[in-house]
Amino acid sequence: MLIGEKVILRALTQSDLPKLNVWRNNPEVTKNLLGWSWPRSIEQEEEWLKASYQDKENLRLAVDNKLDGRFIGMAGLYRIDWKNRNAVIGIMIGEKEFWQKGYATDIGFTLMSYAFYELNLHRIVGEMLKENLASQNLCRAWGFTYEGTLREADYRRNKYQDIVIMSILKEEFDPQRKKEGKKEDD
Ligand SMILES: CC(C)(COP(=O)(O)OP(=O)(O)OC[C@H]1O[C@@H](n2cnc3c(N)ncnc32)[C@H](O)[C@@H]1OP(=O)(O)O)[C@@H](O)C(=O)NCCC(=O)NCCS
Repeated sequence: MLIGEKVILRALTQSDLPKLNVWRNNPEVTKNLLGWSWPRSIEQEEEWLKASYQDKENLRLAVDNKLDGRFIGMAGLYRIDWKNRNAVIGIMIGEKEFWQKGYATDIGFTLMSYAFYELNLHRIVGEMLKENLASQNLCRAWGFTYEGTLREADYRRNKYQDIVIMSILKEEFDPQRKKEGKKEDD
């Protein structure tokens, strides 16, 4: 397990699936998630979990609140490219009462410390809707740099939307940053 200041990241288990299924069927939680978000049954979640144990290109972890052990979300490294040593970071906090309290910031620092210092990845990428300011602020809090925009690359809510790409390299990553806050030039 990976231990952060506010969270613990651990392997997903069968008993996480009922909660996960509620979150993944909640439009408020999924509205900004990239990729497909169709309604999911608990049986689909079970198949998905089984397949994910064999999946070496996507690491999905449960997020527990460190204080009381409550399961509050999921985080992962996706599309891991082991040759070029990069991956996309993804976070979903399913329990809304935990939003805007610094949880995602801590999840990211914890997961990226593992990605850079244990898995020896070189580059972590953030991909988000242009209108998703929460994720852009989050990436800035981690020290990411804006790379570019994929024009009208996503379709939802009856319109095409731009996707923003941000990234951080291993040498730019500073886990102390979460204590110091944002730098002057951010
Ligand atoms: C997006 C999400 C991960 C943010 O998690 P969080 O725990 O609320 O984020 P934090 O409290 O660590 O805040 C990180 C930064 O984002 C900002 N932020 C968080 N929510 C915000 C919002 N709704 N609008 C604007 N900024 C927001 C915070 O102010 C903070 O910036 P700061 O360092 O300048 O203060 C969370 O809302 C979530 O899981 N949403 C549902 C799933 C999702 O959309 N995931 C991301 C898909 S790309």
